[in-house]
Amino acid sequence: MKTILTGIRANSELTLGNYLGALLPMVRLANQHSADHHINIFVPDLHSIIADIDGDLQKNIIRTLKYYLAAGLKINENVHVYRQSYVPAHSELCWILNCVATMGETSRMTQYKEKSEGRESCNVGIFDYPILMAADILLYSAEYVPIGEDQFQHIELTRNLATRFNHRFGEIFTVPVKTAEQVKFMGVDDGIRIRDLLNPEKKMSKSTKAENSKIMLDDAPERAAKKIMSATTDSLGKVKFDMWAQPGISNLLQIEALVTDTPLHEVTAAWAGETSYGELKKKVADSVAKMLTEFQAKLATISDEEVYELLENGEKYANHVANAKLLEVQKAFGLR
Ligand code: TRP
Repeated sequence: MKTILTGIRANSELTLGNYLGALLPMVRLANQHSADHHINIFVPDLHSIIADIDGDLQKNIIRTLKYYLAAGLKINENVHVYRQSYVPAHSELCWILNCVATMGETSRMTQYKEKSEGRESCNVGIFDYPILMAADILLYSAEYVPIGEDQFQHIELTRNLATRFNHRFGEIFTVPVKTAEQVKFMGVDDGIRIRDLLNPEKKMSKSTKAENSKIMLDDAPERAAKKIMSATTDSLGKVKFDMWAQPGISNLLQIEALVTDTPLHEVTAAWAGETSYGELKKKVADSVAKMLTEFQAKLATISDEEVYELLENGEKYANHVANAKLLEVQKAFGLR
């Protein structure tokens, strides 16, 4: 049985963009494949500590997992939920892969370059981040790793490290499929990027200061609706899906499609040529408020105990699989 694996960081509260663009597609993918694939959904808590954490990491982890459940993740014996730091093999394999990776290839990672740029000092964890990520993936022989395009470079690095290792020691690692095939598997042509409501050229981000730029998953539904009503549009006066020429309007159409679970082409066709932006906003505001109301109600029914029980089972499974792979690697190097 093949493995689909993804990690979601729990550094802060999520935006509607994280939910619609990453979490919900992952939940749908998992539900679609969990009859005949292992689905590993884990919280990379050791990755979290390279950066600041808003609030309490423990609380954030449990809340993030509740989000998956509230978004409709169906649990069966193939779905494994775990925390990275509860599976010590991740750190162990990370060290071993540090001795396989080169400074050159790791220094080329865009995320590291961006995060370290202009800083007087940058922690080594930021530099080593992609190697730990490679360990996260290779321990479970995952072929599919559904993630955003900002992480594609890390998947290519993982593929290179696995291939190099296998070349030296034999076929120990499963090489994850190329990012182009990952995208096909996910069934999203181009990734979903929900835009900033005030500056729709940019991605919606939790780190943007302006409150009206972003909708958070714990926003009161009426507040979220108001934010949609104040979204930036354009002066063209005609509804059309065109991310380049009309990013604000296109973003609203995209949000409407995702929160109402309607294909985008149907939504764009229904609104094409309409001249009242106000009406479109009103509809999207209602849809978002409705979605948040339902989501938050569902969330309130999920207990911490439920999550801890899932983690206990998931971590048992994860340690079992990861330790077996780690042992193969240790033997290859003569450590065992
Ligand atoms: N780097 C990912 C992100 O920032 C999170 C992550 C860590 C991850 N390890 C992973 C994703 C392994 C997929 C597989 O979104």
